[in-house]
Amino acid sequence: MKLFIDTANLDEIKKANSYGVLDGVTTNPTLLSKEKEEPMVQFKKICEIVKGPVSAEVTSLDAEGMLAEAKELAQISSNIVIKVPCTIDGLKTTKELSASGIKTNLTLCFSPSQALLVAKAGATYVSPFVGRLDDISTEGMNLIEDIRVIYDNYGIETQILVASIRHPLHFVEAARIGADVATVPLSVIEKLMKHPLTDIGIKRFSDDWEKLKTSLVK
Ligand code: E4P
Repeated sequence: MKLFIDTANLDEIKKANSYGVLDGVTTNPTLLSKEKEEPMVQFKKICEIVKGPVSAEVTSLDAEGMLAEAKELAQISSNIVIKVPCTIDGLKTTKELSASGIKTNLTLCFSPSQALLVAKAGATYVSPFVGRLDDISTEGMNLIEDIRVIYDNYGIETQILVASIRHPLHFVEAARIGADVATVPLSVIEKLMKHPLTDIGIKRFSDDWEKLKTSLVK
């Protein structure tokens, strides 16, 4: 499963990239609003750090506006992926972009029917939001399972990009189900490598090593 970071913050992206496990970046208008930089400039800076896919979202609601924005965004760098909402206008936009060879990430997916239609329109990625479903007492991970089954039934190549991940269990479950990508905030990426027994083990080895060195000096 590929690992993307879900942020528009350059320091976080650089940090995650330095861990050697980062495959790409997803952003959204809310994440960009925290950065106080002109979004086109911010996308360019992000693409200079990460060579894998970088999702940049359109904000128009109609297909014509989405396409105009998408064409501008696609010129920033060859690794820009156009993030489009799961709406009828999003479908039309996806069809056009896919015909021109521009990659798309269909965002705000909350149902298997949306996932099937965006795949038919040629989406490169679909982003089901698991955390936001959990927030309304609906099991977000069931959606990932449903989409996996449906896509496998028909040999659909659209990649399932699990979004709105809030904790390590979401990440592990996404991998168990066979999602293609998980996009994860930095705080959760760091938790993925944390284990109290690792910390206790390191301390014990280091204490025993010190004891050995001290005993040899005497
Ligand atoms: C995905 O691309 C979105 O940016 C993101 O995962 C949304 O997460 P949230 O529900 O925690 O805002």
